[in-house]
Amino acid sequence: MQIALAPMEGLVDEILRDVLTRVGGIDWCVTEFIRVCDRLLPETAYHKLAPELAEGALTRAGTPMRVQLLGSDPVCLADNAAFACSLGAPVIDLNFGCPAKTVNKSRGGAVLLKEPELLHAIVREVRRAVPAAIPVTAKMRLGFDSPDAAPECAQALAEGGAAQLVVHARTKVDGYKPPAHWEWVARVQDVVAVPVFANGEIWSVDDWRRCREISGAENIMLGRGLVSRPDLARQIAAARAGDEVLPMRWDELLPLLQDFWRQARRKLAPRYAPGRLKQWLAMLTRSYPEAVALFAEIRRENDCARIDALLNPLQPAS
Ligand SMILES: Cc1cc2nc3c(=O)[nH]c(=O)nc-3n(C[C@H](O)[C@H](O)[C@H](O)COP(=O)(O)O)c2cc1C
Repeated sequence: MQIALAPMEGLVDEILRDVLTRVGGIDWCVTEFIRVCDRLLPETAYHKLAPELAEGALTRAGTPMRVQLLGSDPVCLADNAAFACSLGAPVIDLNFGCPAKTVNKSRGGAVLLKEPELLHAIVREVRRAVPAAIPVTAKMRLGFDSPDAAPECAQALAEGGAAQLVVHARTKVDGYKPPAHWEWVARVQDVVAVPVFANGEIWSVDDWRRCREISGAENIMLGRGLVSRPDLARQIAAARAGDEVLPMRWDELLPLLQDFWRQARRKLAPRYAPGRLKQWLAMLTRSYPEAVALFAEIRRENDCARIDALLNPLQPAS
């Protein structure tokens, strides 16, 4: 069984990957999507979204990171994939699930699920271009407006050379509306031989049990659930082994939040850092009453030094 941390553009960046993978239970993570249009991206574009490339493509905890590309031109994606590998990407993941209008309008993300032949051509070209030892994987939704073609899309991806598939069990039109249709993950796994990861709406150990029962999938990818409850992967891994671990307490989480803030302060412009902290803290309010209280104090604060003081009340602000 593998548990992956989902790629989440604008949310799961290098800093959150670092902090979340240090909690444990995550087998691998993925960069935010790197958008490929009509040219070879410069090296800086890769290092910006995947700084871990300079560290052997591992997070500080030693968790492997995959590089995700999004685009629709098979040759251009293949060139970029080969370049990413030359920079140290250990796995190339292809995005066929992004629902954003701007992305779909330029023929990227979930809209490609309307064209299984193109899915096949993209994976085939990328597979051909990257070294044989480097796996190419794909992440898909169930379809654009209907899940009916999900098995056909999955077959196209697998036959093109995808070594694993992650299925976000909703269509593009479903957006992020619950429920996730985990039964379709089983239908996809029925028609392909490669491992299929179930993704979508796993917020708790109980959700994981239901997802496993309905999808039959041993492998999962966790997104918002893990961001909201950073020890979710650890809890699921323990539950699967028949063990139980105590949920992470707020006093165990707080040092991670403080470290997140220190890194955000160091790596982001002062006008962006507070927003990133609030974004994560708002998601933590789902699991921790203490986060609700802290969020109420911080939500209108944009001054970094005052946020330092609120987050580290016993230390002088740096
Ligand atoms: C803010 C946000 C950004 C996302 N960015 C990406 C992305 O860059 N690439 C991708 O394949 N999926 C992306 N997704 C989809 C997630 O990887 C995942 O499939 C989805 O959130 C469902 O899983 P969950 O219910 O566990 O969150 C994003 C989702 C969210 C909420």
